[in-house]
Amino acid sequence: MPRGRLVTIEGGEGVGKTTQVELLVAALGRARIPARPTREPGGSPGGEAIRRLFLEGDGERWDALSEALLLFAARRDHVTRLIAPSLAQGIWVVSDRFADSTLAYQGYGGGVALEDLAKLHRLALGRFVPDLTVILDLPAEIGLARAAARASVDNRFERLDRAFHERLRQGFRQIAAENRARCVVIDGSSDPQIVHRAVLGAVEGRLRVAL
Ligand code: TYD
Repeated sequence: MPRGRLVTIEGGEGVGKTTQVELLVAALGRARIPARPTREPGGSPGGEAIRRLFLEGDGERWDALSEALLLFAARRDHVTRLIAPSLAQGIWVVSDRFADSTLAYQGYGGGVALEDLAKLHRLALGRFVPDLTVILDLPAEIGLARAAARASVDNRFERLDRAFHERLRQGFRQIAAENRARCVVIDGSSDPQIVHRAVLGAVEGRLRVAL
């Protein structure tokens, strides 16, 4: 049985990741490729427990390095208990955020040294990386306005300032530039169906499947 693939969808607030995860899982299903959606922080029961610790409370609850430690603990649980076993069974996994969010938010946004985050990644996950990462790109003010229009807006990061969100966007672009074989940047400002077609094109081209 061929191994499944891990596709991660990344980007700042309000870029439309969740919609794109749902549309991609549905398209894979229509192509008779077994696929499951998941998310970070969270995904596994242990990961979801850490998600609650991480997202609740005020903005000062954890410093950025403590956040990174929590996130990699959650991610290790998610990978070992859900993602890796699924891939081994030939099931594709599409994750709403993954390790690049920690690089962008806690690294570029929060000031944790990127080399420390790379060390944490190696400790928690070894060489495990996604097969494909789609980075949805959007000007910070459009993403924040979209996030503010949603009902469930109130997570700790949506309250941070414009400059933080601008650093996030530049961080994601830098990650894409440094990992060209794994990452593709897609403009998230268009209609969700147009973005979806671009995502399908990236999956077909990079992972050699027909959707
Ligand atoms: P969520 O409500 O899922 O927001 P979104 O719809 O934007 O994904 O909350 C996740 C929040 O956690 C989001 O603000 C980004 C933040 N986050 C990090 O700071 N680092 C990480 O590694 C991950 C996975 C998420």
